[in-house]
Amino acid sequence: MENNLSKLQIPREKCWQLVEKYVSPEGRLHLLNTEAAMGALARYFNGRSARGGPAQGGEDEHTWAMCGLLHDIDYEQITGKENMEAHMQEHCGPLTEKFLKEIDFPDDLIRVIQSHNEVQNIPRDSRLAKALFAVDGLTGFIVAVSKILPDKLVSSVKLESVLKRFKEARFAAAVSRENIYTCESELGIPKEKFVAIVLAAMAEAEEHVNN
Ligand SMILES: [Fe+2]
Ligand SMILES: [Fe+2]
Repeated sequence: MENNLSKLQIPREKCWQLVEKYVSPEGRLHLLNTEAAMGALARYFNGRSARGGPAQGGEDEHTWAMCGLLHDIDYEQITGKENMEAHMQEHCGPLTEKFLKEIDFPDDLIRVIQSHNEVQNIPRDSRLAKALFAVDGLTGFIVAVSKILPDKLVSSVKLESVLKRFKEARFAAAVSRENIYTCESELGIPKEKFVAIVLAAMAEAEEHVNN
């Protein structure tokens, strides 16, 4: 796959300031989880190439992580989810572009972020875009699994429980399993492995939040 996307030069601190400006403390958790998951996926691809096989690496961890951190920057500034149709129409539209331009986020990476909302009809033509799309629902799904545990901690969530819950259509019904499973068709990562990577990354992020 072509990989000529911009390498993000903007430091995390500046990206985080944008999150603080537009997203409430409660809303930030999903962004932090997605940041952690995307960083871990970039490392996965880079590590895999280092062990031989076709050159698959060259993914910039910071760029991936910041696209994760900022992917829903607009979602509290548009029509709320009580009107889901309007919410989805507006999500990742002009406001996303406007906000990201405030910190001079590169145009091609703005498009990557916008492409995670299928309604925008922007092709996911990079591994980064495909990863963001596949990971988005999974972070929320794992949080949902953690919420039914006594300690409500992601670090207590077992890989097998997540896989089992996937098959329960009524559990976290709003999360599209189909989207998550594009990790296999689009990224070539078996879903067991994909969940393991994201789960570990989220558990680590949780430690930072709680300490
Ligand atoms: Fe989104
Ligand atoms: Fe999201």
